[in-house]
Amino acid sequence: MERIPVAGPWITQKEIDYVTDAVTNAWYGNANMYNDRFEKAFAQYIGTKYAIALPSCTSAIHLSLAALGVGPSDEVIVPDLTWIASAAPVSYVGATPVFADVDEKTWCISAEALEKLITSRTKAVIAVDLYGGMPDLDAIVEVAKRHGIAVIEDAAEALGSEHKGRRCGSFGDAGGFSFHGSKTLTTGEGGMLVTDDEEIYRRCLFLRDHGRNPGDVMFYNTEVAFKYKMSSMQAALGLAQLERVDELVEKKRQIFSWYEQELLGIDGISLNFELPGTKNSYWMATVVLDKKLGIKKDHLMQLLLERGIDSRPFFHPLSSIPAYKHLEQAKEARERNATSYSISPYGINLPCSLNMTEEQAKYVSEALKIILYDR
Ligand SMILES: Cc1ncc(COP(=O)(O)O)c(C=O)c1O
Repeated sequence: MERIPVAGPWITQKEIDYVTDAVTNAWYGNANMYNDRFEKAFAQYIGTKYAIALPSCTSAIHLSLAALGVGPSDEVIVPDLTWIASAAPVSYVGATPVFADVDEKTWCISAEALEKLITSRTKAVIAVDLYGGMPDLDAIVEVAKRHGIAVIEDAAEALGSEHKGRRCGSFGDAGGFSFHGSKTLTTGEGGMLVTDDEEIYRRCLFLRDHGRNPGDVMFYNTEVAFKYKMSSMQAALGLAQLERVDELVEKKRQIFSWYEQELLGIDGISLNFELPGTKNSYWMATVVLDKKLGIKKDHLMQLLLERGIDSRPFFHPLSSIPAYKHLEQAKEARERNATSYSISPYGINLPCSLNMTEEQAKYVSEALKIILYDR
């Protein structure tokens, strides 16, 4: 039986042509031509002034924190339910992550949880657009402004999502995107930082090139910094994908609609939520089971796998995993974050690769219904 993969890209002749051109011609005086085009087109798509192509979204978050001057003795608030990449850069700059609870419906950080955790040491919040869904960013930005803290929007999973007509990634002081092979738009590995703030932009350009300003031909480093660049071959792939972004996002929404037709309203199943006024790009169609069904995520994943279906577990609360478990902040979060701890054990991501067919979505949905109700 052929396995149905959980994620994967949609590559056409356009991508092959652009990468072939880059590997052939993007050298010497043309070395930056695809990076420049990709960055300009990306900033235009998101609606920000600036975009910087990077090796990953992790590096975008790291650079954002560094450019904002976050460092030792500072606290940064992150949602408890997210991939570790949202929080790990907080440790890279020597600051302390503080894990906030999420909203029951959006599965994203709630403004109320954020506000309760702000102290005199808080420097920033990292708001994550989980699985393509968006938190109430208006409320989050309002709380952050009132308390004088920065907002970094981790839009790694959400390219194409919108809130009141404004594209995700553009809500905070800086935003980050991932182009990992599993993402809606891929460059294999890769990422992008976006911002409207010229100071952050210039500082990031300096920090991402070993403390060297763009155009410095004397190789004269004035600070110890980082090396975060994207190759022209990746940028060419990214540009080709970006020129097809509407059809990539539409396919994700179509896959979700296939699942919705089969699963919406079934007792005990919750699906991704679309906050009024937002457009969810549904990177990962996700189901959260009612506790009363008595099936946890690892068991469900195993039962699906026996039917040839790949899936992923809903992220574990960061405060529960070995990487953070020992921290005082994690202990407090475990006692406090009831919603994160009630969702995570019962959630899985369903197959959502961009080559998925309606027939496969029906097969997955049927398998899920049989597992839940006809075992
Ligand atoms: C929510 C979230 N943030 C950050 C990242 C990091 O992205 P990258 O793998 O490009 O560093 C990911 C990657 O999957 C993610 O899901």
